[in-house]
Amino acid sequence: MKKLAHPVYVTQPALPPLKEFNLYLKEIWRSKIITNNGPYHQKFEQALADYLGVNHISVFSNGTLALMTAIQALRVTGEVITTPFSFVATTHSLWWNNIKPVFSDIEQEFFTLDPLKLEAAITPKTTAIMPVHVYGNPCQIEKLQTIADTYGLKIIYDAAHAFAVKREGKSVLNYGDLSILSFHATKVFNSIEGGAIISPDEKTKKRIDYLKNFGFANEVTVIEPGINAKMNELQAAYGLLQLKYVDEYIYRRKLLSHRYRDNLRNIEGISMLNDLPEVEHNYAYFPILVDVNHYGVSRDQLYDILKGYNIYARRYFYPLISHFPTYRGLESANPDNLPVAERISAQVICLPVYPDLPLNIVDLICEIIIKKGGPDASGRNK
Ligand SMILES: Cc1ncc(COP(=O)(O)O)c(C=O)c1O
Repeated sequence: MKKLAHPVYVTQPALPPLKEFNLYLKEIWRSKIITNNGPYHQKFEQALADYLGVNHISVFSNGTLALMTAIQALRVTGEVITTPFSFVATTHSLWWNNIKPVFSDIEQEFFTLDPLKLEAAITPKTTAIMPVHVYGNPCQIEKLQTIADTYGLKIIYDAAHAFAVKREGKSVLNYGDLSILSFHATKVFNSIEGGAIISPDEKTKKRIDYLKNFGFANEVTVIEPGINAKMNELQAAYGLLQLKYVDEYIYRRKLLSHRYRDNLRNIEGISMLNDLPEVEHNYAYFPILVDVNHYGVSRDQLYDILKGYNIYARRYFYPLISHFPTYRGLESANPDNLPVAERISAQVICLPVYPDLPLNIVDLICEIIIKKGGPDASGRNK
């Protein structure tokens, strides 16, 4: 097997059928309602609430603005404890709100915030925790909630990866004070760009809806400096259509993930996350850990080997957020404070997974990994 003729990226968005989308577009062109809580926006919010099994959801133009607004809505200030093992938007949302992020380490099994280490990060200035259901893996929700309740802290879950994830039959989005989703093109469910906040009650949703619309409570009342984070009608219609297909997308992802697992089982130095029996996973990512001491090839070498075959895996999440210039001066960013996150970040690589990815490409990727890119993996070196 030679280098692939066409590149395979870590992900590729699934798009709804153009024919169906055209019908929605016609309707938008007819009504001339293109934004500001129009009919598709309202239908999309209702359909999402039904699909996800949540009571109150506000859609946003993207997940980052949803995070920033969630912080505003709860009037979080001072310091917030969060994970360095995430996409930068998690911590940026704090920074944009003038809040000091305090990094705490992750646990090694599922890479989410380690509740056992978290208490040590609490100071008199701590007002909230921002855990991430990273890769869609549910955090240790009860343990985090106990700490939050004991110290009087809010919890805002960055659930950007956790669309449709359930635990014991219940959506993970129903925990904490607020949860946010991202509907970015790279996610399991996309509305091109987009995001959402899940609120526990109608009152909170209302306040969030004001905040995403400049703070307008009515035509003449602005309650506080809100932002413009509204989703337009074209994206809401597109999102509404996507919902019809998302179960199929997740099913395909599951097949591919299981194929990876079957193929990569028992390779010395390669480890993978397992499904949890009580969790309905969404298979958003397929991370593997590469232990150079046992596999013989480093994570970065494997990344380059795959690239040589036109396969673009991604080292999510490397570097850690705590390594970026904005954050690395923080005391909590010291690598000695984050040993597990440092190790996982140095070993992790996410393999391609998306609904249209053919199974034979998964097999090929696995063959390259098994053979460590050597001459037997392909005809490349022959
Ligand atoms: C964990 C996490 N949080 C926040 C975001 C930000 O979402 P968005 O790209 O929709 O602004 C993303 C992804 O992009 C993410 O992966």
